[in-house]
Amino acid sequence: MVVGGGGREHAIIKKLKENKNISEIYALPGNGGIEADAKCINIGAKDIEKIVSFAEEEKIDFAVVAPDDPLVLGAVDALNEKGIKCFGPRKNAAIIEGSKVFAKNLMKKYNIPTAAYEVFETAEKALDYLKTAPVPTVIKADGLALGKGVIIANTREEAYAAVKTIMEDKVFGESGNSIVIEEFLSGPEVSVLSFTDGKTVVPMVSSMDHKRAGDGDKGLNTGGMGTVAPNPYYTAEIADECMKKIFIPTINAMNSEGRTFKGCLYFGLMITKDGPKVIEYNCRFGDPETQVVLPLLKTDLFEIMQAAENETLNKIEIEFKNESACCVVMASQGYPLKYETGFEITVDDGFDAELFVAGAKSDSGKLKTAGGRVLGVTAVAENLENAVKKAYNEVKKVRFENAFYRKDIGEKALKALKKEME
Ligand code: AMP
Ligand code: GLY
Repeated sequence: MVVGGGGREHAIIKKLKENKNISEIYALPGNGGIEADAKCINIGAKDIEKIVSFAEEEKIDFAVVAPDDPLVLGAVDALNEKGIKCFGPRKNAAIIEGSKVFAKNLMKKYNIPTAAYEVFETAEKALDYLKTAPVPTVIKADGLALGKGVIIANTREEAYAAVKTIMEDKVFGESGNSIVIEEFLSGPEVSVLSFTDGKTVVPMVSSMDHKRAGDGDKGLNTGGMGTVAPNPYYTAEIADECMKKIFIPTINAMNSEGRTFKGCLYFGLMITKDGPKVIEYNCRFGDPETQVVLPLLKTDLFEIMQAAENETLNKIEIEFKNESACCVVMASQGYPLKYETGFEITVDDGFDAELFVAGAKSDSGKLKTAGGRVLGVTAVAENLENAVKKAYNEVKKVRFENAFYRKDIGEKALKALKKEME
């Protein structure tokens, strides 16, 4: 059983299907595209009671809880209580994403490199602090905010406005009861997803997200408009430093706090001139990072997930292909603001890439758009240049009205690669 219904879940399900011992996969709720690969059950990813009853009724052997909300709400605890094995952290560990205040305090306590910060529980104190704080500065709502709870303020006025939006207007609801104000860092960003059983941590191939809606990293922040893997900024040297200063210390810190983390721990990193620093932790696979990382995975995903649950990750070898992947997200025009849905999606004959469906439903035998991010097209090739070329070539074969996508996914990574070779 896979809980969730986006492109990430589609990528997880397609990979799990490579294991021939799995007789049936259910997706809760899944989506119109996932229907081709799993039995979709109309239960929302946050409806933990219904998820647990369904799992009991169907005698589910193993559950993968993919999205942040159910993890932070304790879906894994509830399933475990009924004897159902899961891939994903329990509630007391998912807090590493669920509360930015928790994550920042953890890093401070265990000397894990991150931006300097202060925590505020009232707007008054935050506004007072901002009178003399350096700008630009970064203001973050404590709790989950659909990936939108981070505001980069370039001026003092913008910073005051951000505090008011989060703490007084409560645009992110209770998530804004506390805020973190932190130092503005600069440098290339790298996403590193890892498998961990609380003892061993195995980083997956690195990736690069493209969060802004427009080309050249312009426009509004989105859930992610495309990804490439591996990320050229993540050199072997930096990987080594991250392992020693960030990955292992984080796993150990969580154990010391009595919050052992099992599942996929996502490190959002920035490579600053003072070395790699943690921008954020996620308690789950990234979306759309998963859509480039899993297609490069050679080892059986279900075996890895079982080993993470059984705490035997040290007994298996996890391998990735020595190739590159590029995922281009096709969205509905207007996303991340207002957009229309209900347009038929068609794919030309000869389409030769992976299609991961995110926002679509099936309607009398047709697949129709039903969300902002509609789908992702992932191509794998021997190098990044060809993966990008191929992804864009295949995107042209996927059609729906009002489609839009970034034209420059992978461009920054390709430039970095060229520089490296000079
Ligand atoms: P998050 O939701 O925590 O991933 O933050 C969203 C984006 O805001 C990140 O991907 C960064 O680009 C940016 N960001 C977050 N924290 C900082 C920081 N301390 N300095 C500069 N940029 C940041
Ligand atoms: N792509 C960023 C995330 O999944 O949080």
